[in-house]
Amino acid sequence: MRTYFIAGNWKMHKTIPEAVALAAELVKELKNGSGKYMIAPSFTALDAVSKVTKGTNILLGAQNMSTDEAGAHTGEVSVLQLKDIGVQVVILGHSERRHIYGETDEMINKKVRLALSHGLEVILCVGELLSEREEGKAEAVCEEQTRKGLAGVSADDLKKVTIAYEPVWAIGTGKVATPEDAEAIHAFIRNIIADMYGKQAAGEIIIQYGGSMKADNCAGLLAKEDIDGGLIGELLSRPKPLFPLH
Ligand code: PGA
Repeated sequence: MRTYFIAGNWKMHKTIPEAVALAAELVKELKNGSGKYMIAPSFTALDAVSKVTKGTNILLGAQNMSTDEAGAHTGEVSVLQLKDIGVQVVILGHSERRHIYGETDEMINKKVRLALSHGLEVILCVGELLSEREEGKAEAVCEEQTRKGLAGVSADDLKKVTIAYEPVWAIGTGKVATPEDAEAIHAFIRNIIADMYGKQAAGEIIIQYGGSMKADNCAGLLAKEDIDGGLIGELLSRPKPLFPLH
């Protein structure tokens, strides 16, 4: 049985005091929760938030990471620096990174392998643009991003990977995928994992949905067989109201 994994992506929101206050509230709200939880504040708030989440059932996530361990990469943040702060999970391949900042599957794969080699967990985001969906390419896009994102990742390291299916047209738009449409892609991605790593790995991997998931639409999504949680920016990632099922 897979555990529900609810993760908050706070994007470029919140000052340090605001992030600390929300993290402290979530620690209280979720302390008896039965799921797996993560919050990913901005880089600037990670250190302060790490002191709040340390020793709790909320994992500390980063929203991105450099392709390189160290070096002359002005403005980038390395895996070693994230580990220094106590980061446990890193979100990679978010559509805002792919489409605003031009990250390629090759770059994302390099980050995925680097993070895993340092023992971090990874949330690998995949998802199609509206135009790609309209052209009937949603599956092909998700397949390519999944296969390329995971290239060279061992079966053992796959245990530290979560996939987040985030249709780009649903992110921050209020347009949520129907549970049926989302489930179809989740099942499709799980089949790709089965093809790459075998049935057992496919049965174990957590596949989150992301894209305007919120309290009034999460029940239908989370009830689907292959939807194992959410990557949520909406509502500044207050996961508590998202647990009608638990
Ligand atoms: P949203 O964002 O919940 O605001 O749509 C999800 C995400 O970007 O991960």
